[in-house]
Parts: sequence; C-alpha cells; structure tokens
Amino acid sequence: MHHFAYHNNELYCEDVPVRTIAEKVGTPFYLYSHATLKRHFMVFDAAFEGVQRLVCFSAKANTSQAVLKLFASLGGGLDIVSGGELFRGLKAGFPAQRMVYSGVGKRIDEIDDALEAGILMFNIESIEELELIDERAGLLKKRAPVALRVNPDVDPKTHPYISTGLKKNKFGVETRTAIEGYKIASKLKNIEVIGIDCHIGSQITESQPFKDALESLLAIIKEIKKFGIEVKYLDMGGGVGITYADESPPHPNEYAKSIVESLGDMPLEMILEPGRVIVGNAGILVTKVLYRKSGKTKEFVIVDAGMNDLMRPALYESYHRIEPVIKNDDGSIVADVVGPICESSDFLALDRKIASVKKGDLLAVMSAGAYGFTMSSNYCSRPKAAEVMVKDDQFDVIRTRQSYADLIDGESIPSFI
Ligand code: LLP
Repeated sequence: MHHFAYHNNELYCEDVPVRTIAEKVGTPFYLYSHATLKRHFMVFDAAFEGVQRLVCFSAKANTSQAVLKLFASLGGGLDIVSGGELFRGLKAGFPAQRMVYSGVGKRIDEIDDALEAGILMFNIESIEELELIDERAGLLKKRAPVALRVNPDVDPKTHPYISTGLKKNKFGVETRTAIEGYKIASKLKNIEVIGIDCHIGSQITESQPFKDALESLLAIIKEIKKFGIEVKYLDMGGGVGITYADESPPHPNEYAKSIVESLGDMPLEMILEPGRVIVGNAGILVTKVLYRKSGKTKEFVIVDAGMNDLMRPALYESYHRIEPVIKNDDGSIVADVVGPICESSDFLALDRKIASVKKGDLLAVMSAGAYGFTMSSNYCSRPKAAEVMVKDDQFDVIRTRQSYADLIDGESIPSFI
C-alpha cells in the first residue's frame, strides 16, 4: 500500500489531497505520512525478530517532535549526535536509557548532559574522547557505558560525502586502536565497556559492505575476549539505502538476515541506527511553480523551494523524483527545476524530463523525508518551511512556517553602532 498515490490524477497523501494542504498551509512544505512512518519503523524492527534488539532511529534524518514522538511510542530508541538531539529526544519522550550517542566531536557540556540523563551508550570515536568521558563521569559520580566505534575500512560504495568507514574518513578508530582502546577502557574507573559499534556510511544499496564490517567487529570481539573484555551490545549503525530513482537496496529483511546469519550464536544484543530507510520515502516536499523561462540552451522551471529547503541536490547532486501534484495532459518537458536562491547549485533537478507545468502548478519532490528539513537553513533570509503530517483523512501542521520575525530572533545591535 503506497501512501503517496494518485486518485483521479491528483496526488494524495493517505486520504488527503496534497492540493488541499497546499491551499491551507501555503508552499513550500514538508509532508509526512503517518502510516508510512509507522510501517517503515515496524518492518525494520520486525526484520530482526527473534534477536534481542533496540532500533534507535537516527535523529539527524528527521528531528521533528511529532516524528520522534511516534517512534518513541513504538518502543524505539534514538541515535543522537549532539546535545541538541539529546534535548529533542528527551522532549519527544524517549527514555535516555534508549539513546546511543555517536559523533567525533562531543563537547564537555554535551557529554555532561548525556551522563546526567543516563543514556544507554556512548559510541566513542577517539582515545582522547574516552579519557575525557572517564574524567567527566568521575566528576559527576557516574559510570559511563561505552562502545568503541570501529572504522573497519570497508568501502560502502556510496557517495564519498556520506561514506564514513574508510580509513581516510574521520570516523571511529581503526581496528588496532580499537583493541588498544578496549584495554585502556577496561582499566578506567568510571567507564563501563558494554558494546562495540560501527557505521560505515549511508545510502548503501548492497548487503556485502555490512557483512564485511561485521566480520571486522567480530574479530575484535574475539581478540578482546582474550583480555577478559566482553561486550553485550553490537551496534551496526544505520545505512540501508532507499530507492530515489532506480536503486534496488536490500529489503530490511534481507539486510537483517545477512547480519544475523554472520552473528551465529553469539549472545549479543543488537542496536541498529536506521534513519533514511525509515523516513526517506515517508515524506515529500511540496513546492509551487513561480515562473517558467527559456534560456539559450535550457528550459527553466523556477519553484518556491530552494537549496535552503532541500540541500541534497546541491550538496550531493542527489536525485529526487519530481511529480506534478495534479496530472494534466500537456505532455512533458526537459528542464532544470531551480529555486529562488542566488547560486547556480540551487537546483532540485537538472535536465530532467518532467510533466509540462505552468506558473502556479504544484510539484511534489519525492523521497524528501530524510535529511530534508533537518538540513534546511535560513540562507538568503528564507524562513524555514512548514511541516505537515497526515493520518488517514486528517492533517496537522507539526511545525509552522517560520515568520520574518523568527529570522532576527536573538539578534541585537551593539550600543557602539
Ligand atoms: N548512525 C550514524 C552514526 C550516522 O552517522 C548516520 C548517518 C546514521 C546512523 C543513519 O544513517 P542512515 O540510516 O540514514 O543511512 N545528509 C546525507 C546523509 C548523511 C548521513 C550521516 N550519518 C544525505 O542527505 O544523504
């Protein structure tokens, strides 16, 4: 059952015509399907049926309170990478005990907040960080539960900007350092070694890189056991890709099977940190055509969503399908779909065959639920878009569009001016 579908040539989200929402809320806006969010979470979780597990949704993909609240209510955990995500997660109702914290640059205040909250696990990315967390835990009279994030030097075969497990990447520690790190950690007074972690990249469309990474982790688990160090949690990070154009990533069942098979009868509890696979295809960005114009060699469709709203095409040249909200019989055009921002990288699509559209038409930018709103900015003093969630025949604005006043919130003019 697809929850973004056409009925009588009109795009619906569940039982609500997208046009109706655009008329009420204005454009651009992000639109999420509650049924899709829920189904994706449950399918992913069920893929690991029979295994002790905690599915920690990766907050960075979509941090809206409503989205987080939904996953918290489904029993999910949260993968966080900042004090801000810890704050949002707690506000949305995730118990700290279901949060794991990764990131190469955790600040002291962020570490302290996570220790005070009592998170499940710190995924440590350097020996210096390990030592700092031990020191902070000592000061706060806490014990810090940790995993080491291993960089297994595996090629995830994805866009270089979102590959994280190669030895040239800044993430985690290499295998040898990890073994040393475990020995150090096991002697630190305020550290409790509980897990091992990796995250090799995002938008991965094959199972093999995950299997290779897991093999490295299992070898480390065996090695540290010789020194009497045991881990309870195995965190495989996020990373199953989705279909934007014609990719065919493994189904969560296939992904889970390949991992669980390699685990054999190791008594490990799994932690998964999926982001994109849960929310990516559960959301779209709706935008309006402002103008059409013909250049010397190009046709341009100028829309009211720009790179500040959806940065992925500008940053990774990523592909998002662009569909008309109302289908017409006017055939198709090949055009650049561009935003209003003063940069040539401000495009949603280049040389794309799309439905012939005219001024005022609505377009749906598909697969925009992950890393869409969370990567948006106020560049060119453009207020951030609204976000809307649909459930059955109802819709709710889960974040209002920013106002112009919001744009200067917190600013002040010094007395010397
Ligand atoms: N865990 C960690 C430690 C991560 O760094 C990430 C993503 C995830 C989990 C979730 O990965 P996923 O399941 O979504 O593949 N902005 C880029 C993606 C950056 C991903 C960063 N880390 C994009 O728009 O494609």
